[in-house]
Amino acid sequence: MSVVEKAIRKLQESKQAASAEAAAAAAAAPGSAVPPPEAAGPAAAAPPALVLERGLLRTAGLLPPEQDMAQLARQYRRIKYPLMAQAMGRGVPRTPKGYLIMIASAMPGEGKTFTALNLSLSLALEKDIKVLLVDADVAKPQLSQVLGLGNAPGLLDVLRDGSVDVEALIRPTDVPKLSFLSAGLGAVDATELLSSTRMERLTTLLGQHDGARIVVFDSPPLLQTTESAALVRVTGQIVVVVRAETTPQPVVLDALKILDGHPAVSLVLNQSTRAVTSSYYYYGYGTERGSPADQTAA
Ligand SMILES: Nc1ncnc2c1ncn2[C@@H]1O[C@H](COP(=O)(O)OP(=O)(O)O)[C@@H](O)[C@H]1O
Ligand SMILES: [Mg+2]
Repeated sequence: MSVVEKAIRKLQESKQAASAEAAAAAAAAPGSAVPPPEAAGPAAAAPPALVLERGLLRTAGLLPPEQDMAQLARQYRRIKYPLMAQAMGRGVPRTPKGYLIMIASAMPGEGKTFTALNLSLSLALEKDIKVLLVDADVAKPQLSQVLGLGNAPGLLDVLRDGSVDVEALIRPTDVPKLSFLSAGLGAVDATELLSSTRMERLTTLLGQHDGARIVVFDSPPLLQTTESAALVRVTGQIVVVVRAETTPQPVVLDALKILDGHPAVSLVLNQSTRAVTSSYYYYGYGTERGSPADQTAA
């Protein structure tokens, strides 16, 4: 177990112990405002809000240091508006299933999970939309693990068993309008599950819930797994994260070949060190917008 994993485990254990103690104390206290579970009405069945523990997320490398948050927020604004425009059909033709956004990359370590989380946080700030972040990196469900849901039922369980209600597994978070669906259990049959017609129906259903919900999928690397190709088929927009100065161009091109024919693909050049003030660049391209990487927005 790595140092980071140990730190996460320790923090989670102490948090769980503290909340169990607090719940026991509240239930025991006379006149307590918090009713014991058996006395609470139907509202008690609603899944509790998931706290996106900033310290844990930072330790895991999924949030930038506090001092970089403002700059990152500016960069994610540049990334999210074209995606939102295509999802909602604002100023551009609506992209079919554009509300289903897959965060992809050729190789591991390019910043998919970082981008999926930070893009979701940025989208959730928008007034008129809700965001569902789905951990579809079923082989390496880092988000689920960091958020303490590594052993909880999630996406795969819903796909495997039609009687499982997905909305019951979606956890609201302490960030307004942002909810989370964990990867779920047992990844052996993941490719088949993600390729199934049930997945197609499920993704449509997820996006249509409540009118305006954008669904962001963290995903496995395009060139190393078969699960990601299954996700490509069901999502309406794909953001390919490319780690600057690291990923060789032929590797990026190989990944883009897998996406050939997909109507809405954008590239994010991530972690560029070319200038301190512009560490994050956004490039977009698509069949409707001209040649690849011709729209530098940063
Ligand atoms: N824009 C970014 N700024 C700072 N660190 C980043 C950024 N994107 C990724 N990282 C770091 O790079 C590493 C790999 O990112 P991650 O999102 O886990 O990649 P992937 O999900 O593609 O495997 C993580 O340690 C993360 O902290
Ligand atoms: Mg990842």
